[in-house]
Amino acid sequence: MTTIGIDIGGTKIAAGVVDEHGQVLQKTRRATDALDPEAIESAVIAAVAELRVDHDVTGVGVAAAGFVSPNRDGMVFAPNIAWRDYPLRERLARGIDVPIVIENDANAAGWAEFRFGAGRSARSMVMLTLGTGLGGAIIMDNQLVRGAYGAAAELGHMRVVPHGHYCGCGHEGCWEMYASGRALTRAARMALVTDEDRAGRLRELAAADGTRVKGQHVTQAAAEGDPLSRELVTQLGHWVGAGAANLAAVLDPELFVIGGGVADTGDLVLEAARAAFRAELSARGYRPEATILLAEMGGDAGIVGAADLVRY
Ligand code: BGC
Ligand code: NA
Ligand code: ZN
Repeated sequence: MTTIGIDIGGTKIAAGVVDEHGQVLQKTRRATDALDPEAIESAVIAAVAELRVDHDVTGVGVAAAGFVSPNRDGMVFAPNIAWRDYPLRERLARGIDVPIVIENDANAAGWAEFRFGAGRSARSMVMLTLGTGLGGAIIMDNQLVRGAYGAAAELGHMRVVPHGHYCGCGHEGCWEMYASGRALTRAARMALVTDEDRAGRLRELAAADGTRVKGQHVTQAAAEGDPLSRELVTQLGHWVGAGAANLAAVLDPELFVIGGGVADTGDLVLEAARAAFRAELSARGYRPEATILLAEMGGDAGIVGAADLVRY
């Protein structure tokens, strides 16, 4: 039995046909305009039609970057996409005649890691997806935690800095403003000014793209060994670990999984996160400590998780 998983993010839509073992059989993608919900819908409908040419599918799971409604039929709000009380399932059903399930993008990615990836032998885990925003998934005793109204695990909007940077959710100092691709973009642009003489590689990468410096340039330069970029990623890893220590006070999971594009910096972000977690964990030394691992499913996590959740 195969299903389709769709991952709608702030900059792209990825779609794939997935079997019951979490294997992606075929994939396609489209660019998104986060400000245009209708264009997003047409792109999703077209992607599904393309994938159904060669595959029989029994349902479509849609992983979307925002607050999902209590009965999982739409989006109540998205910080980075123009959805407000938006009946996404009904809109998509105009062009898709199999059952559609809407899920939060990070919940879907976390579910994929739990079923098939870094968390496959865990019972209780928290996934942190560092993309444009910071997405979260909480799995406790093998169950995805959705909350009373569907908006549990919006971890990126925990306040970590009083009067900190302004966030798309309407508040200041959210975790996502310090640990996400966006955060890296902001930190890099500040460094262009404050650390001008060390920012050469970042300027080069941006010039080659014909854009301003952004988070991806930092992760790429960090992977090459650029010292400034490595510092920026380390700082971000610190925020990840410090926030995870707070979550351990609430949830006490056995495992944290770090995924999303920023996790491509591998050990750099991981080691920084582990160090900050150890430094900030309450009652450290007198309690078992959660393991922190990198995600294993890569960019397909959202697709695979959304496709799998159609079956639950
Ligand atoms: C949104 C979440 C989403 C995350 C990752 C956050 O800004 O509030 O719903 O999961 O970004 O895309
Ligand atoms: Na979530
Ligand atoms: Zn916020």
